[in-house]
Amino acid sequence: MHRSKSVLLSLLCFLFSVVWACRQGKEENDHSPAGSAPEERVDALPVVFTSPADNPATPEKIELGRALFYDPILSGPRDVACASCHHPEYGYAEGLDVSVGVGGQGLGESRTFGSAGHVPFVRRNAHTILNTAFNGIDAQGKYDPARAPMFWDLRVESLERQALEPIKTLEEMRGHAYPAHLALDSVVNRLRAIPEYRQWFGDVFGGPQAIDSINLGKALAAFERSLVASNSRFDQYMRGDQTALSATELEGYQAFIKTGCIKCHNGPMFSDFKVHVLGVTDNEKLDRPDAGTDRTYAFRTPSLRNLRYTDPYMHSGNLRTVEQVLEFYEDLSIADRLNPHVKPEQLDPLAREMNVNFKDIRPIAEFLNYALNDDQFDRKIPPRVPSGLPVGGNIQRGQSLAMDGPPGR
Ligand code: HEC
Ligand code: HEC
Repeated sequence: MHRSKSVLLSLLCFLFSVVWACRQGKEENDHSPAGSAPEERVDALPVVFTSPADNPATPEKIELGRALFYDPILSGPRDVACASCHHPEYGYAEGLDVSVGVGGQGLGESRTFGSAGHVPFVRRNAHTILNTAFNGIDAQGKYDPARAPMFWDLRVESLERQALEPIKTLEEMRGHAYPAHLALDSVVNRLRAIPEYRQWFGDVFGGPQAIDSINLGKALAAFERSLVASNSRFDQYMRGDQTALSATELEGYQAFIKTGCIKCHNGPMFSDFKVHVLGVTDNEKLDRPDAGTDRTYAFRTPSLRNLRYTDPYMHSGNLRTVEQVLEFYEDLSIADRLNPHVKPEQLDPLAREMNVNFKDIRPIAEFLNYALNDDQFDRKIPPRVPSGLPVGGNIQRGQSLAMDGPPGR
């Protein structure tokens, strides 16, 4: 009975795919433990996503955003695209501990600097773009896409604004081609010089000056927002399919709640979108420590969805497997495992209070490794991009640097 009800509700959600996220069968399918605080619950993702009022999604805008996402014209030396670090083969993340931007070659774990010494490593592990449409969603399923928190330190709000940041950042896409304050103008001028982009932006946004940095951010954001993976077996379970999880996964889910993981990893994204001090060590490739949010060594709780595609883990990419993350939590009291810049008393109380039971590690890992992935996401790569540059940047090993390639300024 519950199932047919929930199917009907899902259908209604599709039909009324409007402003706020649909909540399917909330009361009927509430698998949270009795008496838990409202924020201490996880849930299925909504079936539809919401766009900011000033940037509605249209199929044509999404395709323009896709082209831009794969076009290295957005980077100073024309060798790095968004997709160089956020590639569908790696679940729109990348398989590297810390990213290699300008001057890099190759894809995923085999990406390295072509000729060392140009720019440093990017300072953090890259997030996946999957489900960033839902960044900021709370345990009640509410979120505001215009204010969606972004990055490990929450320093930017909304996909629209986030999209312009890598273009200005030395290590990611800018390189030494132009100073940061001229980066957006330079890239906009390059796009304006390409007739296909003039036509495409004009069709999507209208007007003779349709190419500007605001619309560039809007197109990229519309594409990113469309990259949703919301039908994991956990989602199916929460929507009413009692058979969707294995016995061990269910045991892991219960242990995840009991252990207190859910105090921070909650809501449909398994994140409270707040920052906490856990004392994870710095990546040794960095030239100076990464002090996190406001120099407090606090970092944002990451989503636990699609972990299968997004290793290695933590802001520094220092932990390679979910099991290693669990061992880290188990040993949180062992000071010599911690970041030397963080004193034990600075650790978040919610983490300190946790007591990870050795016997729960395997079921929790099983739950996180297998129940929360949805591999049915959009992997479409455009066959070419309007600049004529290599699609995705220099991601093929041995590909010659695009600097001498066509066209632009
Ligand atoms: C050189 C690698 C690299 C490139 C190129 C790159 N990114 Fe990222 N991206 C990262 C890293 C690293 C982070 C995490 C940085 C942080 O949080 O401080 C990140 C974070 C993000 C996030 C935040 C997700 C979240 O949940 O907070 C979004 C969205 C994103 N990138 C989109 C883009 C777009 C759009 C482009 C192209 C305009 C792009 N990225 C280019 C490496 C890269
Ligand atoms: C106090 C809040 C808090 C609690 C409790 C907590 N986490 Fe976390 N979790 C975080 C934060 C913050 C990070 C990122 C830390 C960093 O990168 O420095 C994180 C990172 C992770 C990651 C890495 C994800 C990625 O993409 O990098 C996993 C996996 C994880 N936690 C699982 C768990 C499990 C399992 C538990 C329970 C045993 C748990 N967490 C308890 C806040 C918490």
